[in-house]
Amino acid sequence: MTVATRPIVVGVTGASGAAYALRMLEWLAESGHRAHLTISPSGRAVLSHEAGRLVDLEQFEPAELGESIAAAFARGQFAYHHFRDMMSPLASGSFLTQGMVICPCSGGTLSGVAHGTSDNLIKRAADVHLKERRKLVLVPRETPLGRVHLENMLKAHDAGAVVLPASPGWYHEPASTADLVDFIVARVLDQLDVPHDLVARWGEPREVRS
Ligand SMILES: Cc1cc2nc3c(=O)[nH]c(=O)nc-3n(C[C@H](O)[C@H](O)[C@H](O)COP(=O)(O)O)c2cc1C
Repeated sequence: MTVATRPIVVGVTGASGAAYALRMLEWLAESGHRAHLTISPSGRAVLSHEAGRLVDLEQFEPAELGESIAAAFARGQFAYHHFRDMMSPLASGSFLTQGMVICPCSGGTLSGVAHGTSDNLIKRAADVHLKERRKLVLVPRETPLGRVHLENMLKAHDAGAVVLPASPGWYHEPASTADLVDFIVARVLDQLDVPHDLVARWGEPREVRS
């Protein structure tokens, strides 16, 4: 499978859906893609609460994210950036990337992206992707959506982001929650132009994956 030439930026924030972030990182790790990871404190809380992953944002220890993700860090395929580190390459448009995904994306981070607050590295990197006209995918998880969420989604969309809610389809006949998670990760990878075989596409036999 073709590997993206540039790295993908992955921001993890405090919306429910840690499983989406973990699965995406695992898949990127196992398929040889480079990634730069940054996690907000609330993202850390959700990783802990929903997945039992106790990530230390100060003394980052990749082993906490699982074997294949840790292995990607060990071989230099993945890198970690503290969410407050504005000296990180991710804060600059001169650092070339394939694109960025914020997954899951809290309503708070969605608001910051929509308004260009750039008050942490995740929002700054998102702002950079918008100004550089690079792909930015936001994966919000909230229900019901209030007017503020809806307005911010429209603002982010109009600024160039792809708003891709964590709202899996059921037409691929999921047999497990892992299949539902893969559906969302597959849609994100499609947006980032990353080839994958995670989920059979509509119109194709389920055995044939592309
Ligand atoms: C366990 C937990 C679950 C949460 N779930 C959501 C959620 O699904 N969607 C959301 O927008 N915010 C959710 N929040 C609230 C956000 O984490 C909170 O607004 C936070 O300030 C977002 O900060 P961040 O965007 O920097 O991660 C949740 C918080 C916790 C602790």
